This record gives sequence, structure tokens and C-alpha cells, in this order.
Amino acid sequence: MADSDKPMSRARILPAIIAGSGLYEPAGWKATGADTVSTPWGEPSEPIKRGVFKDTEVLFLPRHGRDHRLPPHRINYRANIAALAACGATHVLAFNVVGGINPALPAGRLLVPDQIIDYTWGRGHTFSDAANQKLQHVDFTWPYDAALRETLLSTGKRQDVDIHNGGVYGATQGPRLESAAEIARLEHDGCDIVGMTGMPEAGLAREQGLPYACLALVVNPAAGKSEAPIGLSDIERVLSEKLPLVNALLLDCCRQIGA
Ligand code: HPA
Repeated sequence: MADSDKPMSRARILPAIIAGSGLYEPAGWKATGADTVSTPWGEPSEPIKRGVFKDTEVLFLPRHGRDHRLPPHRINYRANIAALAACGATHVLAFNVVGGINPALPAGRLLVPDQIIDYTWGRGHTFSDAANQKLQHVDFTWPYDAALRETLLSTGKRQDVDIHNGGVYGATQGPRLESAAEIARLEHDGCDIVGMTGMPEAGLAREQGLPYACLALVVNPAAGKSEAPIGLSDIERVLSEKLPLVNALLLDCCRQIGA
């Protein structure tokens, strides 16, 4: 048979979701199992869940673990990315809750950031960290995968959900929230949103060669950006209001990646 007569074989696609606060098991998918994975970097936050959404197989990992037992600085980001890669993930969609710095991004707003500044410290942030590990200086000019960002944005359009395109994610150490002066500094640096889990996850995905994009949900105005103190109950209200939408967007986006 001539090459041109052969049926096109498409490389297998296996999207993974790394979910943040509030999302610990996708709603509306059919769970098919979970892989307990051990990596050279230790254990991921949880066994990697497998499931199917409308014929698309999806991997799922809640980055804070069950019952939100891992604070942002204690998450083993290296093990999480290595475990997803070991399970065959081909793409990673990250969901992160954030505070809004840019007034155009009030609580309840969804966005797909296009840049990141890393203010975290002391986290296992690279796979190039052992004598036998190949040293990599990966390109990180555009930290998020352009095609995957587009897929997230077009999924929003398909579902008639307004998603802000772009923005700079300032990744802070936590677990405390920032001071007003710290947020003023981030704003001066060009950050539009602030969160505690964006890095080193994005950098590790790049080192691993996994296309990675972030869907961020603003749950509060960042410190000093509103008169009122940042209230947990307000954050929880935004989360419970928006999580069903986030869940639907992420699963549909996985399907679009495979389409
Ligand atoms: N700062 C840092 N991380 C966050 C915030 C915030 O205001 N809100 C949600 N995650």
C-alpha cells in the first residue's frame, strides 16, 4: 500500500487536569480507576484518577490532595508532573484560584493568563536537580502553551462563557495572603492576578515537555484592592457559584483537545 493510501493514525491524546481549591473530583465524567504512582521525586498529591468524558479519556489530579490537606508550599509539584507524565498525559490543564490585582478582573472573573512571575522560594522547582539528571535551560519566554490556551478560550466561546484572554500571574509563596505593599509591588511589576500554586508547576511542565495552560478564577480582590478585609466566606461563595462552570469548561476543553 502506498503511504498516501494508509489510514491516518493520530497520536493518542490523553489530557490531564490539575485542579485547585474546591475541585476534588470532576462532576459528569465516568471514573474508571486510579493509578498509584511513585516517582523519583516522591509521591504525587493523590493517586492519578482516570475517567471518561463523552468518549475522551481524562486524567485528574487535585493538587492539594483530598480534604485540601497540602498547603501550596508543601505540594510536591515535581512528583505531580512526573506522575502525570508516567501515566501518559499529553497535555495539562491547570485550574487555579487567584486574587485580582487588575481592576478589570473582579471576583468571579475567569481568565487564561499568558505570562507568569515567580515569587515562590524553597520549592522543588526543577527536574535538573541531581547529578545524573540532564541539565536543561528550557525556553520559558511564553510559559503557557499557545495552542492549549486557544483551546481553553474557544471552549469558553462554545459554552458562551466570557473568559478574559491574557494576564500576568504573580505566584507567591503563601500560605498567608499578601500585604497591601506586596500587592502594590506585584502590580508595579505588571501582575494582574496573584496566586500560590502557579509555580513551579508551569515550569516543571515545560521541562517535562508537556503543553500546559491555566484557567484561573478570581475569588477575591487582592490585599489593599478593596476596603473590606479578604473574607473566606466571600471566597467560598464565589467558588461554589463558579465551580460547576469551571468543571464543565475543563472537561469540554479536554474533549476539544482530542477532537
Ligand atoms: N493571594 C494569593 N493567592 C490567592 C489569593 C490571593 O489574594 N486568592 C486566592 N488565592
